[in-house]
Amino acid sequence: MCQDDIAARIGNRPTPPRLPFVPGYTILGVVDAIGEGNIKVAVGDRVAALTALGGYSEYIYLSGERLVHVPVTIDPAEAVTLILNYVVAYQVLHRLVQVKAGDRVLIIGASGGVGTAFLQLGKLANLTMYGMASKSKHSALTKLGAIPIDYHTQDFVDVIHRSEPDGLDFVFNGMGEDYLRRGLAVLMRGGTFVQYGAPQSFLRLISFLAQFIMFKLLPNGKAVEGYGTHRVDYRLLTEDWIELFKLLEEGKIKPVIAGKFPMLEAAKANEMLESGKVIGNIVLLAPEILLKST
Ligand SMILES: NC(=O)c1ccc[n+]([C@@H]2O[C@H](COP(=O)([O-])OP(=O)(O)OC[C@H]3O[C@@H](n4cnc5c(N)ncnc54)[C@H](OP(=O)(O)O)[C@@H]3O)[C@@H](O)[C@H]2O)c1
Repeated sequence: MCQDDIAARIGNRPTPPRLPFVPGYTILGVVDAIGEGNIKVAVGDRVAALTALGGYSEYIYLSGERLVHVPVTIDPAEAVTLILNYVVAYQVLHRLVQVKAGDRVLIIGASGGVGTAFLQLGKLANLTMYGMASKSKHSALTKLGAIPIDYHTQDFVDVIHRSEPDGLDFVFNGMGEDYLRRGLAVLMRGGTFVQYGAPQSFLRLISFLAQFIMFKLLPNGKAVEGYGTHRVDYRLLTEDWIELFKLLEEGKIKPVIAGKFPMLEAAKANEMLESGKVIGNIVLLAPEILLKST
């Protein structure tokens, strides 16, 4: 599960889903039946998909091109975190800004599902990483290779100016759009600020777009980019999921899983993620998977 499951339920997005709906942004399961002409998957295949809605169901109907095969060798709870949280980090790092070894980056929201994916993939890419999180999560950030900054008690602009006087190459922001101005302040000329966190209302989207355009036009040598999986072609997502499955199989990434809950305890799992106390991911498991793991 992910923040967008919560956002869909609370309705804090510019265009929230209309009631009634079933939440569930990502799924991993087994093909139960196929329609005519579908040559991509067969009954019994283990597949995953980015559904945006509907993932908390027993059965879901999807077209074949939206499914990716998942190797049976990998743990389903770990694999499902790659479908959203890791693919966001992977695509921002390797498709959108194309980081190179030695780049210096700041990750805002570093302790979350997407943030910890950024840290693991950033470490693999040999980046120097600063990560913003609450103090209680700093040892986890350090273990993942980041230099932690406590945004409650420290001004991250001061911290970065002192430790990186030339500025950073990239800032990756999964939190509010109010980080845009200060995020740009810590970038070097030629640096890029990437916003992947969604604005929480239509008004905030408009205000963000206005700022976004203003900063894009400002001749300060710094770039502003936005990222959202809903804007990415399925073929590119599939290529990157396959690459991420390989990294997981090879042990090069290891999703941080803070909790696994049976599907019938989805409310408890949502509450835990919503509390903001989680480090990494929370996964909901179907009864079949729970039976296998006991
Ligand atoms: N564009 C896309 O396609 C896409 C896809 C997936 C997710 N997202 C977005 O990415 C964001 C992060 O998702 P996630 O799944 O990683 O969330 P998450 O697992 O809930 O983690 C977010 C973490 O950020 C920290 N945080 C909260 N307020 C903060 C603040 N003001 N400044 C800095 N850190 C703060 C919290 O930890 P501490 O405060 O305790 O450190 C929280 O645990 C969400 O907005 C989500 O909607 C976008």
